[in-house]
Amino acid sequence: MNVSLPNGYNIVMRRLEPGDAINLLSYFNGLSAGTRQRFGPHPFDEPTVNHICHHPDDTIYRYIAIDPAEGNIIAYMLFKKGMTEGDQYRYAQRNQFLDPAMTVTFAPSVADNWQSSGVGSAMYGCIENELRSKGTRQIVLWGGVQATNEKAVNYYKKHHYQYAGSFWHDEKDNHDMVKWL
Ligand SMILES: CC(C)(COP(=O)(O)OP(=O)(O)OC[C@H]1O[C@@H](n2cnc3c(N)ncnc32)[C@H](O)[C@@H]1OP(=O)(O)O)[C@@H](O)C(=O)NCCC(=O)NCCS
Repeated sequence: MNVSLPNGYNIVMRRLEPGDAINLLSYFNGLSAGTRQRFGPHPFDEPTVNHICHHPDDTIYRYIAIDPAEGNIIAYMLFKKGMTEGDQYRYAQRNQFLDPAMTVTFAPSVADNWQSSGVGSAMYGCIENELRSKGTRQIVLWGGVQATNEKAVNYYKKHHYQYAGSFWHDEKDNHDMVKWL
């Protein structure tokens, strides 16, 4: 699917496929330490990439965006059906119980030199519509968001995520946020 950025440039968005392994590894290798430290659903090494691409998990939808001029991956987003055990446990400790059948867990990443150009929002808009039409009623953040990650916190707020609680992890303050659809 072609997706237009605010500056009029068109990128291509689609599901990750087995043939994307080399491209995905170079995407991970190109991420700055700052982005890696904030986006943490899994490691970024070759065995992980091969596992992701060649043994797809049908509970996780993985989307990529491609710059058609270069053919390289410029964004990678995960949407997991239900919640991770850790996220579910944390919400339950606050007496927040979300029906796993209607919940999706979200983890976005955009290549450093494409961040703040609308890629994350353009992709998110399309995917959220698809999830809503399939019966998803709430989206939570995979492992929350670091409170100091201003770019991501603003991104979630722009897409109407609401604060759901705080927790301490890796000596950092983190927020849980939920989007009610
Ligand atoms: C968070 C992330 C996915 C957002 O995607 P993006 O493509 O950079 O975001 P967009 O360009 O679509 O911007 C959407 C909103 O985010 C916020 N935002 C973007 N860049 C920002 C910046 N430099 N400073 C503050 N807020 C910013 C703004 O609210 C912006 O809305 P606006 O354009 O109307 O002002 C992306 O920056 C990223 O991958 N960051 C590193 C990894 C990460 O933090 N992942 C999330 C882990 S919880």
